[in-house]
Amino acid sequence: MRAVDVIEKKRDREELTTEEIQFFISGYASGEIPDYQASAWAMAVMLNGMTPREITDLTLAMAYSGDILDLKGFVDIVVDKHSTGGVGDKTSLVVLPLVLACGVRIGKMSGRGLGFSGGTLDKMESIPGFRTDLSKEEFLDQLKDFGLVLTGQTSSLAPADGKLYELRDVTGSVPSLPLIASSIMSKKIAAGAQRIVMDVKTGSGAFLETVDEATELGKMMVQIAKQAGRVAVGLVSDMNQPLGFAVGNALEVKEAIETLQGHGPADLVEHCIEIAAYMVLLAEKADEIESARKMVREAYTNGQGWENFRRMVEVQGGDVSYADQPDKLPKAKLIETVRAFRSGYLSQIDARVVGEMSVVLGAGRRKKGDSINHAVGIVVHHKVGDYVEAGGELFTIHADDRTSLEETRGKLLVAHKWSDAPVEPLPLFYGVIE
Ligand code: URA
Repeated sequence: MRAVDVIEKKRDREELTTEEIQFFISGYASGEIPDYQASAWAMAVMLNGMTPREITDLTLAMAYSGDILDLKGFVDIVVDKHSTGGVGDKTSLVVLPLVLACGVRIGKMSGRGLGFSGGTLDKMESIPGFRTDLSKEEFLDQLKDFGLVLTGQTSSLAPADGKLYELRDVTGSVPSLPLIASSIMSKKIAAGAQRIVMDVKTGSGAFLETVDEATELGKMMVQIAKQAGRVAVGLVSDMNQPLGFAVGNALEVKEAIETLQGHGPADLVEHCIEIAAYMVLLAEKADEIESARKMVREAYTNGQGWENFRRMVEVQGGDVSYADQPDKLPKAKLIETVRAFRSGYLSQIDARVVGEMSVVLGAGRRKKGDSINHAVGIVVHHKVGDYVEAGGELFTIHADDRTSLEETRGKLLVAHKWSDAPVEPLPLFYGVIE
């Protein structure tokens, strides 16, 4: 079999066999198939799609490109969560410590920034010393001793996804249902998750923008989980405006810390409580969703979630003084607040533009292997539906150079849309896929 034949077959909209998919993925993971062929193949998949059978085969080929963790001896029921990617999405940073406080142990494999969407690992690395490259042994030890692990793909766990993810980030092949579903589910299967809460984003700041597309993605992932003998629930959530206010690595860590300390943005708090509650429910620590929500709220108000976050930073080698005093986190050279030029109700704060501008500022990558700037980003000061007086604060740009600051200011002014009539706030969730 030749890689070029598999690429051409997908280019010509034909269905790939299980063997062809396994050949391509194992060849790419081992280095026999180079990046340029994998890029062409990923673009062909993105443009021409895959059948459900191909998507399941792709997921399993990526999951089995490395080791499969067996966490059964360490955790009663292995529960995990994953987001399909969004702007200002620091959900994992808040949810995991809350869920641990409800008695659910979590070993999570997270990702880096992808396109305009930030990544949990990049965010946590704003804290000096925080390690995201734990070995399998370290992962298991930490899960046993502490109960919470937040790490990245390793060369032994879902390595094919690790490589393809990095490649898609910079070759325009992110917004593809088959590639997103297989990327997420392969990581979950490799990390041994038995029950998974999927945070399926929809809106301008999501990779699949309409509620219908996001629902289709959620259904696909629930189906793959079923075929792999796992259980998944998808919560379709809004991503038309940034989640919370902060977008950018260190800025988001600071907002997550403030949230765990009890003074986070209301939308972020409610979003996180709902995701955490479904995890607690799937872990069978509560009989029904309302009592799960109550448990999570209790962990949020009694500060146990914050204590767990702090401890996680410590055990993964991070300098905990940065968690205690988030003002020590990296700071941009130029910080400029832009004010409203008129009064009115905000009818749109386009999350896609905010995410793209955070990449322009340096918070994301333009090409594979780029380093990122942890300090830069954007803080919006409002949510859709807010009434803002002329001259009130609209957004703050954290930049390291004037050119990107100017570009961001112009684009963000256009990304904020106004109405003279009152505007309904956006919902947090659109539905649950079980
Ligand atoms: N998250 C992932 O892990 N992969 C994707 O493709 C998108 C979001």
